[in-house]
Formats: sequence, C-alpha cells, structure tokens
Amino acid sequence: MACPVNNTVELNPTLLPLEWLLGTWECDEPGEGSFPTIKPFRYTETLHFSHVGQPVINFMFNAFHAESKKPMHRECGFVRMQPGTNRVAFIIAQNSGLVEIEEGELTGQQLSLQSQQLARTSFAKEPYVKQICRVFQLRPDGKLEQTVSMATDNQPLMQHLRITYRRS
Ligand code: HEM
Repeated sequence: MACPVNNTVELNPTLLPLEWLLGTWECDEPGEGSFPTIKPFRYTETLHFSHVGQPVINFMFNAFHAESKKPMHRECGFVRMQPGTNRVAFIIAQNSGLVEIEEGELTGQQLSLQSQQLARTSFAKEPYVKQICRVFQLRPDGKLEQTVSMATDNQPLMQHLRITYRRS
C-alpha cells in the first residue's frame, strides 16, 4: 500500500501485518475514562498512524475534553515490529511527562501491549504509574477499539480508558 501521507512511498514489508492500523481514526462516540481515585470522565480522541517507507510507523494521539473540546492528553511515538515474528514495540512520549516502551504481540488484528520501561520527569506529580497494559483491536464491524489499564503507586492494575474509533 502507498503511504497515506504522501501517496508515493511503498510500505516497508516488515510492517505489512500492521497495515490495518495506518491512517487517521476519529472516535465515533466519546471515550470513557475512569479509575478508583478520579471522577469518571468522557473524552474524544483522534489517532494518526503514518509511515515514510521505513520499517517504522509514526503515530500521534490527541485527546480532547468531550464538552469543552479543550486539548487534554497527547501521545506521540513510533511502532516497530521484530522482522519475521509477531513481536511489536511502541515507543511513546506523553505530554504528562511520562515516556514508555510497551511491547507485546500481534494476533490477527489485535495488539496486546505491556509496559516494559517507564520514566518520568523529576517533578512529575504523584501517584506514579507503575504498569500500563494496552489493547488495540480492529473489530469485525471495522471499528478500532483501544483499552488502557494502569497500576499506580496506590492502585492495582485496572482499566483507565476505553474508546472506539472509525476510520476518517
Ligand atoms: C488521571 C495516567 C491517558 C484523562 C490520570 C492519573 C494517571 C493517569 C496516573 C492520576 C490517577 C490518580 O490520581 O490516582 C494516564 C496514562 C495514560 C492516560 C498512563 C495513557 C497511557 C489519558 C487520556 C485521557 C486521560 C487519553 C483523556 C483525556 C485523565 C483525566 C484524569 C486522569 C481526566 C483525572 C484528572 C487528572 O488527574 O488530570 N491519568 N492517563 N488520561 N487522566 Fe489519564
């Protein structure tokens, strides 16, 4: 498939198993955020996955307040696949000051990722995130679903986010 950004560069063959992820995804309805220590909230989010012919996917995730539309959480980074295997790595920077490496496996059109390394700014607010588990799944209805669970200093692993997107 040609690159959706400039329509000229062929997708690096290493990434063919992840071709279904490429492009822009808009949430079809507000996502749901929760955690035992916070007030439940709703948000909208746009995801961009692109490539420039390298064996790497570039991504940006931008979340907004569902009512005020104000920018909230943002993430950007890269996706790499280990050639010849189903091992996938996400290298992620978040606007909260957190950086992480998540690794996991691609099974069909489902990606299950677990944080391998987390780092934060020296002045990050507590509680600190200890663990992140994330699942992307392309559903049979063509929608993409993302769920994020996390554990913090004072809470065990639990769902923080759930949202579905349609291709735009
Ligand atoms: C709260 C982590 C993504 C919205 C929090 C807290 C943490 C956290 C540690 C504080 C929990 C507590 O006080 O016990 C993360 C991580 C994310 C992520 C690791 C991605 C992997 C998002 C996204 C949104 C969001 C996409 C969408 C807008 C919020 C809100 C709160 C919150 C509204 C509560 C108020 C606040 O503390 O700012 N998150 N978050 N988060 N998160 Fe997330």
